[in-house]
Amino acid sequence: MNEDAQKLAAAQAAVDYIKDGMVVGLGTGSTAAKMVDLVGARVKDGLDIVAVPTSEATAAQAKGLGIKVVGLDEVSVIDLTIDGTDEVDPEMRLIKGGGGAHLREKIVASLSDQLIIIAENKKMVDTLGAFKLPVEVVPFAAGALLPKMEALGSEPAIRQKDGDNFYTDEGNLIIDCAFGAIDNPEELAITLSTMAGVVEHGLFINFADMVLVGTETGVKKFEA
Ligand code: 5RP
Repeated sequence: MNEDAQKLAAAQAAVDYIKDGMVVGLGTGSTAAKMVDLVGARVKDGLDIVAVPTSEATAAQAKGLGIKVVGLDEVSVIDLTIDGTDEVDPEMRLIKGGGGAHLREKIVASLSDQLIIIAENKKMVDTLGAFKLPVEVVPFAAGALLPKMEALGSEPAIRQKDGDNFYTDEGNLIIDCAFGAIDNPEELAITLSTMAGVVEHGLFINFADMVLVGTETGVKKFEA
């Protein structure tokens, strides 16, 4: 199975957990997009759900597929959210935000009864940190936060897209922080969360209830 097929297999396995009547959180990224396509196909076949997207891109995709999209103010609970990841370690800790949506993703995940993470095999790592940790910051603070991220031991850079700063759906900037191996993700998460100007970081600790990983030999399931 190539990487695309691994993503699709994980997405398919996750979509099987969606039942009629559920409020479903829809993640962001290329793996999540495959999942949204599969949800769209099931809706076409009669599945009755409403969905809370984690980005404008996912909202547009879902609406285009005929999935009923609602905002957080319209639901009291999210039954299940399915999302991708950039890295997942053996303790099911994640780095997310490669697609720049981790702020909304974390909000939706935190309001969900269950979070299923879907990924291809290469996202499984022994230690988080080879992927640059995305940190969403208010634009006013970005310049001041760069040396602070450096002081934490990373090489920080403001994310660029098409030769310009990349802005998130919430109008913020992202500082991608190259830490290398992150020895203590819990400690780093707390440090980042308490820095003025930081809106949200991409460390998701104690969020994933299940991880479905597409591999050469099939989908592997990990549960918290
Ligand atoms: C977006 C994310 C994505 O889930 C993550 O970047 C994985 O993306 P992909 O499935 O394209 O590899 O966190 O903010």
